[in-house]
This record gives sequence, structure tokens and C-alpha cells, in this order.
Amino acid sequence: MKDLRGKTAVITGAASGIGLALARRAAREGMRLVLADLDAGELDAAATELGAAGAEILARQVDVAQSGEVWALADEAFARFGAVHLLANNAGVALCKPAWEVSAEDWAWVLGVNLHGVIHGLQAFVPRMLAGDEEGRIVNTASAAGLLSPPGFAAYSVSKHAVVALSEVLHHDLALRESRLKVSVLCPAWVRTRIAQSDRHRQAPEGVAASAPDGVSEGIAEAVRRATEAGLEPEAVADAVFEADAADRFYILTHAATKAGVRRRMEDILEDRPPTLLDLKA
Ligand SMILES: NC(=O)c1ccc[n+]([C@@H]2O[C@H](COP(=O)([O-])OP(=O)(O)OC[C@H]3O[C@@H](n4cnc5c(N)ncnc54)[C@H](O)[C@@H]3O)[C@@H](O)[C@H]2O)c1
Repeated sequence: MKDLRGKTAVITGAASGIGLALARRAAREGMRLVLADLDAGELDAAATELGAAGAEILARQVDVAQSGEVWALADEAFARFGAVHLLANNAGVALCKPAWEVSAEDWAWVLGVNLHGVIHGLQAFVPRMLAGDEEGRIVNTASAAGLLSPPGFAAYSVSKHAVVALSEVLHHDLALRESRLKVSVLCPAWVRTRIAQSDRHRQAPEGVAASAPDGVSEGIAEAVRRATEAGLEPEAVADAVFEADAADRFYILTHAATKAGVRRRMEDILEDRPPTLLDLKA
């Protein structure tokens, strides 16, 4: 998009981490903000901070896994601001368990937020963005785990591979119609956020006892905690998103190691080799 000033950005998962960094950058660009998050308290703090900096804000507690809540957000956003130019489907949660330990409730939670959250965003916002026929961009937050398949990330990786596929199809669907709406898919590796504490807002399903983690899972979970703590600053990811918009780039890979991993994965497929185990610290 050429001039962002006065345009409207919708950001889900806006109260923390990458979403909050996107909101801060959008505010600095002079955009009007629609901020959505499950965590009402943290969302309020984000809205207060950005409002004090002069941004015009609509902030709503939304569970992106609930289609009706995302539609209500879209109705309010278009009623208040008339148009939406940047849609960042960013809310997400992570879970680290061996594939056979992922319960039905785990699958429903992770796919509900990470995949259906994006689907709901597209359904509720894109038809009206298209009808407005203005320049715009949809940024779906996937992950390096949407291009690679690290151990311990069954539900997470499945959800993120799906977001990459959905974004690629969406790109073609829009391009074939010569739409002014563009798409990017954000695939960061480790970023210094609170993603490793994703279950902080999760309602424990009744009658479902958590299984005791084994040594391998504990080691992976610990590696994830350390890797995110030592990860890229969320602000750098937000800057990469705005640079990708200016340059009209589809894939946003923020870590060089991801490209090496993708190359290795493709070679494994083409050379009939089993998947190479990735270095989780990379
Ligand atoms: N941190 C990383 O290393 C990393 C790497 C790759 C991709 N990502 C992706 O980045 C996105 C943002 O995560 P983050 O790292 O900033 O983590 P974070 O936990 O700091 O922020 C995620 C935000 O999403 C919100 N959220 C969770 N469930 C929600 C729901 N159902 N509805 C609405 N909001 C909800 C949380 O309240 C939180 O504010 C996620 O999609 C995540 O998968 C993160």
C-alpha cells in the first residue's frame, strides 16, 4: 500500500507479542486501529497505550475461534471506519506434545484459534474489503512451522501448514480477479513473545486430565522456552511485515535458517529421503 496514513488496520492477537508490535507500528504509520484479543485486560492496556500516542482505536475482546465474534468485529469495524485496508489474522496458540498425545480437545483448541481464526477473518472481512475496491493487504500469521515440521509440534505445525496453503490459494484467487487486495503469509521462527505460555487463557476441558510429559517432550518444551526468550524482537517482525507490504512480497521469512530448512525439506522430498530433524535452536 502506498500511503498508510488514515487507513484502517485490523489486528487479531493485538494485546501481546507480534500483534502488539504490529499495532504499534501501524499506529506510528498514522493508521486507525481495530484491535482484537481474547485477553480483555491486556487489550485494554494496549488500547490505552496506543490511544495516548494519538491513535484512533476500536478495541474488542474477541475469541477468533468463534465465527460470530469475528463477524461482530467486522460489522463494528466497517460501521466505525467505513473501510479496512490491512487485515492481520495473527492470533495464535502453541502446544508441544508428541503427536499421539494430542487430545481431541487439544486439536480443537489449536485448530480453532490458528486455522479457523484465520478462516473466520477471511470470511468476515474480505468480501467487504473487495466490495470497497481499495488497495489492501491481508497478512496471515503462519510460522516457520508452517513450512517445516519440527518434532513435538503436531497440532501447531498442521495448523500453520494449513495457513500457508490457505494463503497461497487466497493469493491465486485474488490475483486471477485482478484484485487490489494482496496477501502475505508471515513465517517467523523464534520470536521473543509469550507464545510458550499459550495455555494462560485456555479453559481446561472438564474431566480431561493432562498427561504427564515424558523426558523428550519436556526437553522440547524447554528448548522452545529458551529459543523464544532468545528470539527476534517482535518489533523486528512487525517491521518486516510493513517492508513486505511496501515491496509487495508474499512470503515473509524473518530468519535465514528457515530458508535453509525449506531447501532441505524440498530436497528430502525430491530425493526420497526421510525428513531431516531440525535444530530447534536455529
Ligand atoms: N513467538 C514465536 O516464536 C512465533 C513464531 C512463529 C509464529 N508465531 C505466531 O505469531 C502469532 C502471534 O503469537 P505471539 O508469538 O505474539 O504470542 P503471544 O502469546 O505473545 O500473543 C498471542 C496473542 O493472541 C491472543 N489469543 C490467543 N488465543 C486467542 C483467541 N482465541 N482469540 C483472540 N486472541 C487470542 C493472546 O491473548 C495473545 O495476546 C501466533 O499466530 C503464533 O503462532 C509466533
